[in-house]
Amino acid sequence: MAVLVSGTGTNLQALLDTVHGRSAEVVAVASSAAGAPALARAEALGIPTAVFARGDYGERAARDEALADWLEQRGARLIVLAGYMELLGAAFIGRFAGNVINVHPSLLPAFPGLGAIEQALAYGVKVFGVTVHFVDEGVDSGPVILQRAVELPDARSAEEVIAALRPLEHTLLPRAVELMASGSLRPDPENPRRTLLDRAAVGPGDG
Ligand code: GRF
Repeated sequence: MAVLVSGTGTNLQALLDTVHGRSAEVVAVASSAAGAPALARAEALGIPTAVFARGDYGERAARDEALADWLEQRGARLIVLAGYMELLGAAFIGRFAGNVINVHPSLLPAFPGLGAIEQALAYGVKVFGVTVHFVDEGVDSGPVILQRAVELPDARSAEEVIAALRPLEHTLLPRAVELMASGSLRPDPENPRRTLLDRAAVGPGDG
């Protein structure tokens, strides 16, 4: 798999600490931003890294093509967006059809896009959560793979919500990668929005 990042990379670290070298190999890490701390996490393990900054390309499609070429050359078949703050176009998603996943810090379809935690706080919700989903051409709109909620009825700051959600992300994203790597996920023929887990693969906490 390849992991796309933009910032700190705690989700990347969770993948490196759990699935990497076991159920899936991280063969490349690409960042949308030079100097993203996530890059150092990959470099520490000798994993190839590269920066594909939007501003270095005339059009987003050109960035997407260069990025997809690089990922393919490294042998990536599963693309994991882990704090990647850019949209990817239809051509990119088509090249890795059905194999691009993302982690988002809300219970989708509530609060897609930027500032999900701030949006949820402003709305005054009592239940927060994390979603791992397939990526389509929309913003956080692809079919849900895994989702987990946490009740925080008194939450007032983004920091306290992040502190509660990060551990969920760091569990759910590696678990989704394991399920993808073992071919345990398939769309429900009656409703392709719904992702089914093979019964044999279901483990504690998969819901
Ligand atoms: C996470 O909250 C993720 O859900 C969101 O961006 C954040 C990335 O954090 N898409 P990190 O860079 O993995 O620490």
